[in-house]
Amino acid sequence: MLRLMKETDLPIVLELEEQLFTSTWKMDDFLYEMNENPFSQMFVWEEDSEIVGYMGIWIIFEQAQLTNLAVNKKYQGKGYGRKLLEMGISLCQEASCEIMTLEVRQSNVVAKSLYQSCGFEKVSVKKDYYQDNHEDADVMMKGLI
Ligand SMILES: CC(C)(COP(=O)(O)OP(=O)(O)OC[C@H]1O[C@@H](n2cnc3c(N)ncnc32)[C@H](O)[C@@H]1OP(=O)(O)O)[C@@H](O)C(=O)NCCC(=O)NCCS
Repeated sequence: MLRLMKETDLPIVLELEEQLFTSTWKMDDFLYEMNENPFSQMFVWEEDSEIVGYMGIWIIFEQAQLTNLAVNKKYQGKGYGRKLLEMGISLCQEASCEIMTLEVRQSNVVAKSLYQSCGFEKVSVKKDYYQDNHEDADVMMKGLI
């Protein structure tokens, strides 16, 4: 079941964040996105009271951005990432967004493959985007209309 992320999810979400990313969002980052950023929506996918994955989206008028997407390691490769992303895309379409963008590490073959298969195309590169290893980000975009 897809639902909005709650503050009580954060201990688990922060643990997953540490397991899944080399450069992680911290408690304050999630709290800001959940409580203060008016453009942001954070979701979790929950099954049997367990958080399988989570996703962040900004909807800024006609433009949407995927800000975070993650699936618990033990559930990876089972279609949850695709399901979450497809739900995110649908939400943005329902909000009348015209485009959706995202940034992804150039080395993240799995995520790039998912995004490509959901219709995202590389449109530019942000040089030296990730502070931990100075890796470049691919900027990918999908038209929603
Ligand atoms: C990226 C991520 C969200 C994908 O979620 P997932 O549930 O494992 O992915 P799915 O099972 O839905 O697979 C979706 C697609 O991803 C790609 N993919 C999945 N596992 C893969 C693998 N081991 N090798 C290559 N591509 C793979 C495939 O394109 C797959 O589509 P297919 O099954 O039709 O071939 C997940 O691996 C993850 O959380 N990674 C760590 C965090 C991260 O990198 N997030 C993205 C930040 S931009």
